[in-house]
Amino acid sequence: MIDEMTTVLEPRPLSDFVETKYVKDITNRALSYIKAGFPVHLRGPSGTGKTTLAMHLASKIERPVVMIHGDEEFSTSDLVGGEHGYRIRKVVDRFISSVLKTEEDMVKRWVDNRLTVACKYGFTLIYDEFTRSRPEANNILLSILQEKMMDLPVGRGGEEPYLKVDPDFTAIFTSNPEEYAGVHRSQDALRDRMITMDLDHFDYDTELAVTLAKAKLSRQNTQIIVNIVRGLRESEKCEFAPTVRGCIMIAKTLKVQKLTPSKSNSRFMQMCQDILASETSRVGSKTNQGRVKEIVRELVAKELGIGKTIDVGKKAGDSVTVIETIDSKKEKKENESLAGVSS
Ligand SMILES: Nc1ncnc2c1ncn2[C@@H]1O[C@H](COP(=O)(O)OP(=O)(O)OP(=O)(O)O)[C@@H](O)[C@H]1O
Ligand SMILES: [Mg+2]
Repeated sequence: MIDEMTTVLEPRPLSDFVETKYVKDITNRALSYIKAGFPVHLRGPSGTGKTTLAMHLASKIERPVVMIHGDEEFSTSDLVGGEHGYRIRKVVDRFISSVLKTEEDMVKRWVDNRLTVACKYGFTLIYDEFTRSRPEANNILLSILQEKMMDLPVGRGGEEPYLKVDPDFTAIFTSNPEEYAGVHRSQDALRDRMITMDLDHFDYDTELAVTLAKAKLSRQNTQIIVNIVRGLRESEKCEFAPTVRGCIMIAKTLKVQKLTPSKSNSRFMQMCQDILASETSRVGSKTNQGRVKEIVRELVAKELGIGKTIDVGKKAGDSVTVIETIDSKKEKKENESLAGVSS
């Protein structure tokens, strides 16, 4: 077996993978672009299912998979390959048993890296979060995607200074939006060579199905969690919108603690506040966290039918407005019936 093959993954359907209408639709669209010969780029905020979907697409392509994670420290040789160490050859001559003769020679050893392996054998490349690598490290991709040729550095050996990319080679990219910390702007020329699909947070059915599949909590309790997370997201009052990971964290913690989100359960409230406040603020500012915790408190109370409802439609920066409480509802009803009597 060749050394380089150790980095190759088998294309296998993912366990717990949820295929809702929403997921199927994106999968089919992406596969149709791939079939037409174009690399696909899944772009979107954290937790929108990009990496999972990329792996799912790769499993549908049914070719071995090579995965690269974008990295600030990457250089082209991390993608293509380089002279990594030496190969030592030792010849032990025991022709005359009493005499031991050894001969050693050292040869500089070229090791193909994952991108070269994928191009050479026509594998599927998943380049996850590719904009975390510096743009110059990714330049090598320009000719691979357009001319289907890969420039090879001198030192690799071989007769040709380039490698013809195998026709079965497919590339799937993922990235976070440019405003994310640690992300570089993707080169226009590179982006122009791929079809970008912008993903957003899951629709209700998918978020529920993913949380159910991951934590295996009851449907009713999972719905409560998903409603809280979606309510917080829709409030648009967070620095970062909470993601399906928040739903999964709450659901899994509940599960291991053998708790239910019951009315009396202040631990559920605390758990939601801890998980969602940490997920949605970058700097851990007290004001931000306080605001998020307050919204979460209102949403939990609403879901459990113990408190107030809040207006989540306001713009970021507004204070939370309590527009109706159970008491105020009762009061309103009484006023209405009084008005009915007097008229
Ligand atoms: N179709 C799916 N079926 C089951 N689980 C899923 C599905 N899509 C996403 N998930 C789960 O949702 C979570 C977030 O998905 P994923 O890691 O793919 O998001 P992402 O967009 O790559 O996020 P990031 O930008 O932070 O890397 C993960 O726990 C993942 O296992
Ligand atoms: Mg990812």
